[in-house]
Amino acid sequence: MSSKSAIGIFDSGYGGLTILSEIRALMPEYDYIYLGDNARTPYGTRSFDIVYRYTLESVRQLFSMGCNLVILACNTASAKALRNIQQNYLPKYAPDKRVLGVIRPTTEIVGKYSKSRHIGLFGTEGTIDSMSYNIEISKFHPDIKVTGQSCPMWVPLIENGESASDGADFFVKQYCDSLMAKDPLIDTVILACTHYPLLKDKIAKYLPASINIISQGPIVAASLKDYLSRHKEMEQSISRGGNCSFHTTEQSAKFTKNASIFLDASISAETINY
Ligand code: DGL
Repeated sequence: MSSKSAIGIFDSGYGGLTILSEIRALMPEYDYIYLGDNARTPYGTRSFDIVYRYTLESVRQLFSMGCNLVILACNTASAKALRNIQQNYLPKYAPDKRVLGVIRPTTEIVGKYSKSRHIGLFGTEGTIDSMSYNIEISKFHPDIKVTGQSCPMWVPLIENGESASDGADFFVKQYCDSLMAKDPLIDTVILACTHYPLLKDKIAKYLPASINIISQGPIVAASLKDYLSRHKEMEQSISRGGNCSFHTTEQSAKFTKNASIFLDASISAETINY
């Protein structure tokens, strides 16, 4: 394991910032490196092979910056690349490093939110079509019926700073209506894309008021804390300065500006090529 280093947090773009905020709120003592592959976002419409390649390149970049632990703060990458990285890449090329995703922590605990045992899922096409949530939820909660709705317009709206605009309402209503028409017994909806918490208020407006809407940030943060408490060697390899640096494969000025939509504090990003 390389010497003390930050935790790497990766997303195809800005969405992982919703996870980073919650992780930092819970564990402010550690250092973090955020990497957004904004030049190649969105991942949600891309094939398994491409998502795997882009995700692996990004993970390797974070490893080369010293990270021993990388969180894929992206459902699409978690659905389409994580297993392959964990089972094939790491044992061969980086046996001391770890890569964790956001799907497993969410599926483990989602059962406690639903009384009707009917759960809805909003995600990218890639996440919904992969059936990763259905498979994982059936392992932990075999009595739960999962119904997915892909929302291909939501990430572009959010990435372009339109999440609060009136125009966004049209597409939020469209996907909410479509999900509830597929299964009116749904009482819990998972926002299974790390971008979607930015649309949470609008989503709440177009779903029945009784529905629990689950954002992953607090769940992933709690799960990471638990992981570190059980993996002391990894925990001790993380540097503790309370710092976070931000890196993007696109223009740094654009990232710096748009990140403020996702974070309360202002930040300064650097462009990185790999
Ligand atoms: N934030 C990513 C996720 O959680 C999706 C964004 C994209 O399509 O690239 O799935």
